[in-house]
Amino acid sequence: MASNFDLQETLERAVDLWESLPKAAHWALAGIGAIYVARGVLSFVQLFLTCFVLSGTNLRKYGKKGTWAVVTGASDGLGKEFAHQLAAKGFNLVLVSRTQSKLDALARELTLRWSGFQAKTLAMDYSKDDDADYERLAELISGLDVGILINNVGQSHSIPVPFLETSRDELQNIVTINCLGTLKTTQIVAPILTKRKRGLILTMGSFAGYMPTPYLATYSGSKSFLQHWSSSLAAELKPQGVDVEFVISYLVTTAMSKIRRTSLLIPSPKPFVRSVLGKVGLGWTEKFTNTYTPWWSHAIFKWAIENTVGATSGITVWFNRRMHLDIRARALRKAEREAKKKL
Ligand SMILES: NC(=O)c1ccc[n+]([C@@H]2O[C@H](COP(=O)([O-])OP(=O)(O)OC[C@H]3O[C@@H](n4cnc5c(N)ncnc54)[C@H](OP(=O)(O)O)[C@@H]3O)[C@@H](O)[C@H]2O)c1
Repeated sequence: MASNFDLQETLERAVDLWESLPKAAHWALAGIGAIYVARGVLSFVQLFLTCFVLSGTNLRKYGKKGTWAVVTGASDGLGKEFAHQLAAKGFNLVLVSRTQSKLDALARELTLRWSGFQAKTLAMDYSKDDDADYERLAELISGLDVGILINNVGQSHSIPVPFLETSRDELQNIVTINCLGTLKTTQIVAPILTKRKRGLILTMGSFAGYMPTPYLATYSGSKSFLQHWSSSLAAELKPQGVDVEFVISYLVTTAMSKIRRTSLLIPSPKPFVRSVLGKVGLGWTEKFTNTYTPWWSHAIFKWAIENTVGATSGITVWFNRRMHLDIRARALRKAEREAKKKL
């Protein structure tokens, strides 16, 4: 009863206060409310248009048939799909990843499939951070008309793991591959793009970098690092005719995610990469400049979080923590079952 009375008293005071305000203040407050609602509606319309209606920048802006694209982490998952779709669009490819045999097989498959297609391959292990590898990359692309760089290579934790239990190797590899590898590759390729005064640099981000992700802390930090780096670089290279875009993605069915079955929220690489290449530059609803979330359900999910609890709020991080603790528990149980089978 006491709390009902308090509520009634509070409401009465609020009404009294409202009535005591001058007319101009009523209009000002109504205006602020209208702007707030209009912003929400506009943002939803922008989301709808980017997801379902508009196409992004045509890749022809970056080069005619036969222009080269460099794809890192090209032999599997999203990188392999980038290679297939860029080759289908008439780009020649420089394919980079660790395993020469996989790169050769992919290059052969694409050469047989697309007439006039050319590929160059480079087997390098980004985790080694070996200067000689970067020199070989520079040599391989020197003289090529490169128009596109896809910074796709990346490593996550093998399973969600407390930061304090993360092995030195895993920690070192994630930062070296995701951060240093992307930066050093870009320093080699970007000068070709700036010289020809047009080009595209796409870097793969992740929901894990967009929102703090407990138990994937190092991976989360590495992708967040790339977000700031990419948006900064975009502003530096824009005057030189180079578009730099950061791609935010939730899960996709690849070896990295360890998810095989697609769902409303988890596409396979083919439609996902089609959306990445088809929606370049459509980042109206993004917090960061030169960033986009190409897959429609990822974009809606992200928009809903941003417009309710917030991407970096305590409640979001708490849910994320619970989710990754569950994933860790399941992964540990699976590892235990497999170990028993081997006995
Ligand atoms: N899949 C997802 O759910 C998801 C979600 C958000 C963001 N992403 C991001 O998307 C990108 C691609 O992920 P993915 O799922 O396609 O990964 P993936 O299926 O594990 O493929 C990784 C690719 O990178 C190569 N690679 C791995 N380690 C390497 C190293 N040390 N040096 C050189 N190449 C290496 C692998 O080939 P080799 O083994 O032959 O080297 C393979 O071609 C990553 O940046 C990832 O963070 C993925």
